[in-house]
Amino acid sequence: MTRAAHIVILPGDGIGPEIMAPTVELLRRLGSFEFEEHRFGGASIDAHGVPLTDEVLAAARRADAVLLGAVGGPRWESTDPGRPRPEQGLLGLRKGLQLYANLRPVKPFPALYGASPLRPELIDGTDLLVVRELTGGIYFGAKQRTADRASDVCEYTVAEIERIARTAFRSARSRVSSVDKANVLETSRLWREVVRRVHSQEFPQVEVEHVLVDNAAMQLLAAPRHFDVILTENMFGDILSDEAAMITGSIGMLPSASLGADGPGVFEPVHGSAPDIAGRGIANPLAMFLSAAMMLEHGLGLASEAAAVESAVHRALDAGLRTPDLGGDASTSGASRVVLDNL
Ligand code: NAD
Ligand code: IPM
Ligand code: MN
Repeated sequence: MTRAAHIVILPGDGIGPEIMAPTVELLRRLGSFEFEEHRFGGASIDAHGVPLTDEVLAAARRADAVLLGAVGGPRWESTDPGRPRPEQGLLGLRKGLQLYANLRPVKPFPALYGASPLRPELIDGTDLLVVRELTGGIYFGAKQRTADRASDVCEYTVAEIERIARTAFRSARSRVSSVDKANVLETSRLWREVVRRVHSQEFPQVEVEHVLVDNAAMQLLAAPRHFDVILTENMFGDILSDEAAMITGSIGMLPSASLGADGPGVFEPVHGSAPDIAGRGIANPLAMFLSAAMMLEHGLGLASEAAAVESAVHRALDAGLRTPDLGGDASTSGASRVVLDNL
């Protein structure tokens, strides 16, 4: 008999714990997993003074996969650079596990076409993947702050661009749209050069285009179906993926997988801790469920279990399930029950 997969659970803050609880229940229905839960983000700051303790990072390294809710909230917000922030825990975890590739699939469910602000005929057939570089760029460059000045350095190396470009080309079915700001940024000009080289030397059979980020933001709404894989740097990927979420009807629908060259991946919804609705029991748990499905598939090699989760979500939506973010009145627990019933 094979050993039960060992999953580190980091519910985090705000709606994180509210959507994590039913996700663990869902996973328990699918197999026997070993769960190890830890405080993370703001909850860890409150208990230990830091958002990510060495113990939690070590536990994550030992795990087969890490499932994460969301971190952050007004309780820990501050413009004081000396104060610990929940988000630093997330960045530390990504960097600590060297999760350079963040995959954010945007595949709207037909049942939700009406929930999107875009017209159904525009959405129909959209099936794209944002491949976001996750451990470099302006997020991780030197930060400085004095009384009358602040700076964040944006830096990329050739090796960092090469490996994320390879992830994108390997994930593409037809086309990679590499998004940059090469008309202004030096990092983007290096990005474009390296993507061109990786394409011509290693993936000439895949179509490639280079799109400036402002235009890409517009095209994403004008013609989302055009995109197959969107390859982009850390910050552009952060922004474009929240925008792309609205093609699916809600940020509460978008899952993600963060992967490195080896070792465990982190699986988390694209959305945050939603302080405005936290504690009310109305958060949409589906992005979290779909992130668990990505964990089953990409992290644990359990493709049929992953497919079972996806089809349960499909059926629940077809049957009319809608949380408030999708225009309905289902609660988190009600929505979770419907999905579990369809499993
Ligand atoms: P957010 O994604 O938390 O919320 C944006 C809007 O979307 C809110 O109106 C919220 O109610 C709604 N929303 C988000 N998820 C939802 C869900 N599952 N169901 C229903 N509605 C949902 O973004 P924000 O408000 O800008 O950030 C809040 C906090 O979360 C900040 O501290 C931010 O740093 C943090 N954050 C964390 C992560 C993460 O942990 N991965 C991601 C993004 C933001
Ligand atoms: C995300 C979040 C994080 C990011 C924040 C909370 C650090 O917005 O995962 O999209 O910017 O990467
Ligand atoms: Mn984000």
